[in-house]
Amino acid sequence: MAACASQRREGQELKSSANVETKFRELLDLVEKLRSPDGCPWDRAQKKGDIGRYLMEEAYEVLEALEGSSPENVQEELGDLLFQILFLAQMAEEAGEFDIAAVLGGITEKMIRRHPHVFGDTTVEGVEEVRTNWERIKTEVEHKGDKGSPICDGIPRSLSTLVRAQRITARTAEAGFDWPDTAGVLDKVEEELAELRAALEAKDPKRMQDEAGDLLFTLVNLCRFAKVDAETALRSSMRKFINRFSHIERELAARGKAPKGSSPAEMDRIWEEAKKNERNSMLELMRKRRSVRKFKKDRIAQTAMDDLKEAALRSPSSRGNRPWKFFFVQDAEVITRLSRCKESGSAFLKDASLAVVVCGDETVSDVWIEDCSIAAIIVHLAAESLGLGSCWIQVRNRRHNAESTSEDYVRNILGIAYPFRVLSIIAIGLPDEIKAGHPYESLDHGKVDAPVLPPT
Ligand SMILES: Cc1cc2nc3c(=O)[nH]c(=O)nc-3n(C[C@H](O)[C@H](O)[C@H](O)COP(=O)(O)O)c2cc1C
Repeated sequence: MAACASQRREGQELKSSANVETKFRELLDLVEKLRSPDGCPWDRAQKKGDIGRYLMEEAYEVLEALEGSSPENVQEELGDLLFQILFLAQMAEEAGEFDIAAVLGGITEKMIRRHPHVFGDTTVEGVEEVRTNWERIKTEVEHKGDKGSPICDGIPRSLSTLVRAQRITARTAEAGFDWPDTAGVLDKVEEELAELRAALEAKDPKRMQDEAGDLLFTLVNLCRFAKVDAETALRSSMRKFINRFSHIERELAARGKAPKGSSPAEMDRIWEEAKKNERNSMLELMRKRRSVRKFKKDRIAQTAMDDLKEAALRSPSSRGNRPWKFFFVQDAEVITRLSRCKESGSAFLKDASLAVVVCGDETVSDVWIEDCSIAAIIVHLAAESLGLGSCWIQVRNRRHNAESTSEDYVRNILGIAYPFRVLSIIAIGLPDEIKAGHPYESLDHGKVDAPVLPPT
């Protein structure tokens, strides 16, 4: 890892202080030029409020870029956001208020002040204490003597309403004003919904607005209890909605129609189709997929079983040799015996409804391990696409006990004779555990890099 990082730094000059200063100066000069009398009439005409709006837009674009697209896109969006900040600083300098040096100095000082455990003598035990200190410095040192609510006032008004709402609820909850549990918030959601319903029936615009606001605010509280970021959740739902709606638009256009004038039933059908496509998109599948080791007792539907078999048989193999053989085991007793194939890492198989034992004929292909691994992962992903949980159990190169290998143990149970080898068992069943997909930020991005080619 460390070697990769330093290789990239040498190859691409990721960060050199001389470069940063020159580039920063160039951008500052550019902003100054745009606002100068011989600059751009549009830039000169901008007011602070206009830039504030662009600032919010650019900030949202950064968030969107962070949610899935390439680092190049994130880099571009960060540039756009920085430009708006420098533009506002330039306007302030023109008005004799402050300049960018004051902005930089101010934030550096503030960060030093808020990290006494890094730049001072304070010692902290962990992240929680850092957070508590941060809040204490904000309220006791920086906002001392402020009027209003010391707890809520520190939350910037410029935040999106949803983010601000969630921050307010988090702060007041930390201060001890909260529901005891999720059930209490759910009751409140129902109460607010009933009140909104009554306001709708009364056709009272003022009450409708009040009750709609109360309901939204309670839902934000519910998000906090569920540890869901309300802003991210809503943005993701909107993106989903837009994707599905544009699918409707495209499909209707292909039929020479538009949403207006098309029947709700037709649009519903296309909407469902878009939902199905989403679930089955490879990347979506990979985003959600996790190894599942806890299973419900339910049997797997025959249609799903047929789909899994078809997926296995569609696996690509070197030279099309298809050295594999799959044993689909559903007998609970046999599954329990298979679950003892290793000293550890296989016991959970006993609760699975299906064990797919992936074998390969090593006389058919010199790359039978690769061919069988590909088939095993395809069965694994097909299970995920069918809403089933699954986990790979490694058999090849593992031991059952001191006397025998896991392969021989499995071969004995299923009567598999040489030249068939046993690569792995894929445990499959209805999931009895919910695991979130790995977050994008947790991916080891250093593992994908442009090559640093040796000089030719
Ligand atoms: C080649 C291979 C062998 C694995 N063997 C086992 C195993 O024997 N037992 C087990 O519980 N999990 C096994 N796994 C699952 C991994 O532990 C799991 O994929 C990894 O911890 C990452 O977790 P995730 O799949 O939830 O992202 C194996 C996975 C692969 C790809």
